[in-house]
Amino acid sequence: MNQRTHIPYVKNGTLQKDPEGRKVVIEIRDLRKSFGDNHVLNGFNLRLYEGENLVIMGKSGSGKSVMIKCLVGLMQADSGYIEVLGKEVNTLDRAQLDTLRADIGFLFQGSALYDSMTVRENLEFPMRRHKEKLGAFADTEPMVLEALENVGLAHTLDLMPEELSGGMKRRVALARTLILKPKVILYDEPTSGLDPITAKEIIELMRSIQKKYNTSSLIITHDVDCARVISERMVLLVDGINYAEGTYAELSSDKDPKVEAFFKK
Ligand SMILES: Nc1ncnc2c1ncn2[C@@H]1O[C@H](COP(=O)(O)OP(=O)(O)OP(=O)(O)O)[C@@H](O)[C@H]1O
Ligand SMILES: [Mg+2]
Repeated sequence: MNQRTHIPYVKNGTLQKDPEGRKVVIEIRDLRKSFGDNHVLNGFNLRLYEGENLVIMGKSGSGKSVMIKCLVGLMQADSGYIEVLGKEVNTLDRAQLDTLRADIGFLFQGSALYDSMTVRENLEFPMRRHKEKLGAFADTEPMVLEALENVGLAHTLDLMPEELSGGMKRRVALARTLILKPKVILYDEPTSGLDPITAKEIIELMRSIQKKYNTSSLIITHDVDCARVISERMVLLVDGINYAEGTYAELSSDKDPKVEAFFKK
């Protein structure tokens, strides 16, 4: 097994710093989740540092979405420790979880816009849910516009999702994720289903957003090119564990067959 840079213990409840002084924003330890005999996660560990772009790769069905759902409390893990922004997710009640989620942007697999709402209404939606973070009387218009400008789509304000291309929908979904100025963004397959040029545009947007707001990002992808461009560090999810960790350069030259399999074209 090839589990390097193994993750030491983090003290509960407080954001610890790593030796380089970076804060830990997400900590997962020994996460386990099975569906009957299907043992999906078998002791998965992960750490995301502030301001970092961390890519997680794993083949289809390896448990990436399950892991991310456990992370935000949409799915209950069988066991394991999950801490996000200093909060232990499994101990939070609904209201506390909602407050925490206002700091977590989640770009779902697919764009998941509401088809019956205009772009503007789609973007206003998370703001209504998280009024306390924004202040009850916040003027939504400039925030909607700023978020759309960030993805180059200010002109689509009053369009319906069906009037947008696939790449545009993805960008609107990204704008909707940004609107609450999240500290952490979780991307589940941000480039899947897009042509290579549009995928590249989305990747560039993710990078510019990360720079502009110093967000920390967890990026789940199959897309090796996306991983190469955007990752500072990568984790390979194999057999339900963080099988290998390292930079793109380290992992792509690794001779372990299970690691090599990811980088074969
Ligand atoms: N709600 C559920 N009930 C039962 N099994 C589930 C459920 N959700 C996921 N699974 C199973 O867990 C495994 C991992 O699924 P998951 O969606 O996490 O894969 P993934 O790595 O995200 O794959 P992809 O790259 O295709 O998105 C699969 O075998 C799937 O069938
Ligand atoms: Mg998935």
